[in-house]
Amino acid sequence: MTVDFSKVLIAPSVLAADFGHLGAQVRAVEAAGADWIHLDVMDGHFVDNISFGPAFCAAVRKQVAIPTDIHLMIERPDHYLDRFLPNAHNITVHVEARHDVPTTLRRIREAGCMAGLSLRPGTPFEAVEAYLDQIDLLLVMTVEPGFGGQPFQPEMLAKMEAASAARSRRGLAFHIQVDGGINAPQARQCIAAGANVLVAGTSVFGKPDLAEAIRVLR
Ligand code: DX5
Ligand code: ZN
Repeated sequence: MTVDFSKVLIAPSVLAADFGHLGAQVRAVEAAGADWIHLDVMDGHFVDNISFGPAFCAAVRKQVAIPTDIHLMIERPDHYLDRFLPNAHNITVHVEARHDVPTTLRRIREAGCMAGLSLRPGTPFEAVEAYLDQIDLLLVMTVEPGFGGQPFQPEMLAKMEAASAARSRRGLAFHIQVDGGINAPQARQCIAAGANVLVAGTSVFGKPDLAEAIRVLR
């Protein structure tokens, strides 16, 4: 897989959208230039919040042509995986969750989806190094997962740099995605540290001009 890492991709997080007008909201960000739609699935166990499940992801998938980027913040991604695969282009699971990571990543790829792996702020980069040749996307959380609208943690920039260095050193090809508290200033820092996919909830869906909100992040 050849990836053009110089192109910055914007993935608005639906968690910040108005669920009462979900269809219109996701179509609007697609029309405004979003590259992917980011879907935060939370189970109330892996994180201290409950968001939405497979049916919600299916509903969003029907509304847009751009890739659906499903972020599973759930304790047992291996158990629920088959229910999300049909409506996903990308599925990202957490290295801290209770599952056999290589098996889950292999199942995601075998289903024709991009396999992503994520780590929480408190998890060292070393915890994902063994899996870097089995992923298409590494998601560096820049906030503690579970809620939108939290402040960006600049200490996570070092993980992006480590990921970018490992990718070149080992000749690998995975996206470096960041998620949490991303506004224009943080976007600049993350891109300089090696990230190429920016998830943004509050800084996109909360804005009156979606196209401008996406433009300033890119
Ligand atoms: C948090 C989620 C994020 C969140 C981002 O656990 O993974 O995707 O929705 O929202 P903002 O951009 O508002 O921090
Ligand atoms: Zn997310």
